[in-house]
Amino acid sequence: MTVPQQVLRPHAEQDYADELTALRAADDRDRPPSWLMSPWAVVTYLLGGELRDGTVISPKYIGPKRLVEVAVATLATDRALLLLGVPGTAKTWVSEHLAAAISGDSTLMVQGTAGTAEEAIRYGWNYARLIAEGPTEQAMVSSPVMRAMADGKIARLEELTRIPADVQDTLITILSEKTLPVPELNTEVQARKGFNVIATANNRDRGVNELSSALRRRFNTVVLPLPDTPEAEVEIVSRRVQQLGAALELPAKDAELAEIRRVVTVFRELRSGRTEDGRTAVKSPSGTLSTAEAISVLTGGLALCAHFGDGVLRAHDVAAGILGAVVKDPTADRVVWTEYLETVVREREGWADFYRACRELT
Ligand SMILES: Nc1ncnc2c1ncn2[C@@H]1O[C@H](COP(=O)(O)OP(=O)(O)O)[C@@H](O)[C@H]1O
Ligand SMILES: [Mg+2]
Repeated sequence: MTVPQQVLRPHAEQDYADELTALRAADDRDRPPSWLMSPWAVVTYLLGGELRDGTVISPKYIGPKRLVEVAVATLATDRALLLLGVPGTAKTWVSEHLAAAISGDSTLMVQGTAGTAEEAIRYGWNYARLIAEGPTEQAMVSSPVMRAMADGKIARLEELTRIPADVQDTLITILSEKTLPVPELNTEVQARKGFNVIATANNRDRGVNELSSALRRRFNTVVLPLPDTPEAEVEIVSRRVQQLGAALELPAKDAELAEIRRVVTVFRELRSGRTEDGRTAVKSPSGTLSTAEAISVLTGGLALCAHFGDGVLRAHDVAAGILGAVVKDPTADRVVWTEYLETVVREREGWADFYRACRELT
């Protein structure tokens, strides 16, 4: 697959084409029908490792191995996979990489919103042709799910619970009968082996549109956790910041570990309501302060220091980003932030530069 040079964000299967090729070549285990590699190779692709020929597979997901194994094993059965978690826990990321590894195609994706209609999951019509020719196969516009069924690939459904409940139910027939009837053409699309669905949903959206129990029964749920140690979170953030910095052609010098640690510490303390030493209680702001947000604070900081500074990431390059991530509600969150600044940041050894940078902004 050739990737045009100017693409802002290549798909996983393009970005990691070399790793995927090496894995497929080294993989001599059984593959489920239509899978491009064995479940073992898929897990190795996600978690990273070294192949016998010395090829290094970079870790894409940092987290419990068992979770990834359960997710991959599920996809080899007739049950679909639901990735659940708070925002920024890599649900979308994992879903894209799973589809890339298993089907070599992560693009069969439906983005769920309150406005997602049945046609987005089943099929629609090209109305000009429909009127001119009547319902024909050429006038039909297939959905990503329909194409995945026809080709025996993985379809992805993002933010499933944002989709209105009656539209969600379209999936029931697809997942239980593995067929999509097309009454207008008096035909149906039967899913080929290898077809399955990965849906993602947000914990915090609970109550927006609950999954119906009929639909829930067709999914195995895997909950993606927040990183449980500061070290794990620092590793996730620095890896991604380096990759993103390279993609944006920002000069990431070893991605400035000290500043990354600081951002992660601030995020974790505010998220958990407690300082890392466990001694001081702090209030939590309304936002999620996810790992993903920490990544964008740091990429933003890198851009600032590259374009307007001397290229070295410093406290005042990340301060504005942190403030933006923490203060989502202009009154309540500002109080929380000021209190944290004055009681925790101000007293902390080695954080004077950060305290000053934040004070200048508040
Ligand atoms: N445990 C993790 N391992 C690797 N990357 C992670 C992890 N948690 C978060 N990320 C990073 O966070 C970013 C956002 O994740 P995303 O999949 O959009 O979150 P979600 O869909 O859960 O809201 C991704 O760039 C991903 O690399
Ligand atoms: Mg997502």
